[in-house]
Amino acid sequence: DDVTVEELQRLCVRFATEAARFIRDERPERVGVAATKSSETDVVTVMDRRSEELLHRLIQQARPDDGILGEEGADVAGTSGLTWVVDPIDGTVNYLYEVPAYAVSVAVVVGDAHSQGGWVPVAGAVADPSLRLVHHAGRGRGAWTGPEDPASGDDPVRLSVSGEDRLARTLLATGFGYDPQVRARQAEVLLRVLPLVRDIRRIGSAALDLVRVAEGSVDAYAETGLNAWDLAAGWLIVLEAGGVVLGAGEGEASSPGKALTVAAGPALAPEVRRLFVATGDAAG
Ligand code: IPD
Repeated sequence: DDVTVEELQRLCVRFATEAARFIRDERPERVGVAATKSSETDVVTVMDRRSEELLHRLIQQARPDDGILGEEGADVAGTSGLTWVVDPIDGTVNYLYEVPAYAVSVAVVVGDAHSQGGWVPVAGAVADPSLRLVHHAGRGRGAWTGPEDPASGDDPVRLSVSGEDRLARTLLATGFGYDPQVRARQAEVLLRVLPLVRDIRRIGSAALDLVRVAEGSVDAYAETGLNAWDLAAGWLIVLEAGGVVLGAGEGEASSPGKALTVAAGPALAPEVRRLFVATGDAAG
């Protein structure tokens, strides 16, 4: 079919916004932990599952031939060549504790969403239910932040990355995996990185970290261990805001993913990558 990037972007915004409203407005008084995954820290709530079901339904209604890959298990092989990569709640621990930094991430990608380096995003939206904002981008169409409610009268704002190019003046966002051994290594890396940068933020949602790079409210972001659903929409939003997103190395490994994800302005990103590769966090 000849769907346009503009149409896909519009759908990303609609689906992410609906799911964002759902997790905010239907939030039970006490959010129960439905299960833990890789470790005690890696929680999934009933609302993660229900939000993914909602996204699944919306996508299949509008785009029945597309594939779907979701954090909570959705894995549909489509026939159109397009795959929806969704994180129904990114920042689940914040959601559980009512820390207002969680998001719904919805992206459309081309290629094999299961293979590292084998796909690229073409449209994406990250909806922030706490701020009632939705950040979005389409390839070649810029990166934008708009109100959750289009009738609010607020115009969308175009995003662009900060011009910072020196590590010593860099506000760096990062995040941690759930596996205790991975965390121990991440802590060691921070021992070496912290003295070299202006400061570090651990916001708790990879999708929002990437949006922050795109809007320039942090200068850079680096994390190991990310999955496609954490970064698919944010990756495109950073690119369309004039930034770059890198992986650990050359070839396939130059794409962001498990080994490393670095996002920043073009001058800063290679330096941040060098720092994380040199200090060993990208080793696996
Ligand atoms: C997590 C968040 C967190 C990051 C983790 C992710 P989830 O996603 O994005 O900030 O540090 O690596 O797994 O589990 O809340 O969807």
